[in-house]
Amino acid sequence: MGVRFGMTAAGLALVAALAAGAATALASGAPSGAAAVKARQQNFKQLGGAFKAINDELKKPAPDKAVIVANAAKMHGLAQQEATWFPKGSGPEAGVKTGAKPEIWSDPQGFAAAIQRLQGATARLQQVSASGDLAAIRSEVQTTGGACKNCHDHYRVPDRH
Ligand code: HEC
Repeated sequence: MGVRFGMTAAGLALVAALAAGAATALASGAPSGAAAVKARQQNFKQLGGAFKAINDELKKPAPDKAVIVANAAKMHGLAQQEATWFPKGSGPEAGVKTGAKPEIWSDPQGFAAAIQRLQGATARLQQVSASGDLAAIRSEVQTTGGACKNCHDHYRVPDRH
């Protein structure tokens, strides 16, 4: 009987340990969502910085082709990763300030199409940058800006200040 009692106690301890583990797993969901939001915002800062570098270059009397080429490549590389920046749990429920709308997760096809539109634009921007044709670069910069705006209009909370 003593042995049986001992096993029961061990069994109870195991159940308690499992319950504690489950609680820890649930609690850790929130910080990882918050971390994903922070990482995503850093990535968008990089994307915005590269786009600004190209636009700044185009305002100069003699734009440096190398700067445009490098930043177009950076933008295209980031655009190709963008789909991974939105793991489940990194929306408004993450508990930190985010501009990501719930529609990103409720309308995954529309969101994927918005990412593809950006990827198409940055691919062409990269191509024309290599050509050095400033008129063509300016035109693709417009198209790329349109792809940013298209997604922001639908899937990003508008700035309220
Ligand atoms: C497919 C959708 C999508 C596309 C395309 C897109 N964005 Fe965004 N962008 C977002 C979302 C959603 C956020 C809000 C992220 C957050 O706060 O969690 C955001 C946020 C940003 C931010 C703010 C980052 C911060 O500091 O918090 C910048 C800057 C930005 N985007 C620039 C760009 C530029 C430049 C482009 C085009 C070259 C672009 N985005 C294309 C969806 C998109």
